[in-house]
Amino acid sequence: MLKGRSVIEPSDLTVAEIDEICNLAEKMIVDPSAYIDVCHGKLLATLFFEPSTRTRLSFESAMLRLGGKVLGFADANATSTTKGETLADTIRVVSSFVDVIAMRNPKEGSSLLASHYSTVPIINAGDGGHHHPTQTLTDMLTIRQITGCFENHTICFCGDLKFGRTVHSLVEAMSRYTGTKFIFVSPQELAVPDYIINQVIKPARIEYKCAERLEDVIGEADILYMTRVQKERFFNEEDYIRLKDSYILDANKMKLAKDKMIVLHPLPRVNEIAVEVDDDPRAAYFKQVRYGMFARMALIAKVTGVL
Ligand code: NCD
Repeated sequence: MLKGRSVIEPSDLTVAEIDEICNLAEKMIVDPSAYIDVCHGKLLATLFFEPSTRTRLSFESAMLRLGGKVLGFADANATSTTKGETLADTIRVVSSFVDVIAMRNPKEGSSLLASHYSTVPIINAGDGGHHHPTQTLTDMLTIRQITGCFENHTICFCGDLKFGRTVHSLVEAMSRYTGTKFIFVSPQELAVPDYIINQVIKPARIEYKCAERLEDVIGEADILYMTRVQKERFFNEEDYIRLKDSYILDANKMKLAKDKMIVLHPLPRVNEIAVEVDDDPRAAYFKQVRYGMFARMALIAKVTGVL
């Protein structure tokens, strides 16, 4: 039963619940008109303390397509936070107005904290470099739509695996399926954090390896998950400039990949995928955006308890 529950990281959802959400999302993809008023009378607040285009608009379009309404802010500078209001108080106030809250904040753990003060479900739309569970539902729905299942995939993550919250969340989710293997491609300084290796991957006995060159391993991947170097989480500009173009996926590298490999990216992309790759049938990152809206529609319908 997902009704009333907050979703802070993928492990808040069981494997069966992820199936339940994806099953509902798939029905919504097939017949969106059957769901146009299921959230009639419900309100979603989108509280974005950090910039976003896709995620916020995806949440808003999801709720509007379910017949609900949306309020919120996209710029924390226009809120009482600037007067010194604590997150706990902001959440107490907003949760007395709405039925569900989607929240993004630069601080790790902020959504979990918010869930302790909220009287309605909190959906974490990104807490610093920590987690981003609705991007994971987006990624998983895309994987299932294209490959038909969650099992037996070798997933190669490439780019900023240290600060990339979408990577941390997808690793946590996919570690629960049989036959999953991970390949991590990053510069040393942007390697996947130790806590992910020690607390998620090792206990699940997942086979994994690390590499520094994408060319060396791309041929093994069923799914290539490209990521942007997370500029906003660097302490100094020099390091960012040095690392930002570490990996660029182009048509030449795609020649080394399997015919059925799929390329995912949570977007926004900066330089890490050359535009020439967009026309490759294996490029799935724009389809992924649309699936994200359906994944969020399904999640909102479940946590508000309307379906
Ligand atoms: C991601 C994020 O915010 O973590 N974007 C998104 O939600 N689609 C990835 C990123 O910003 O690089």
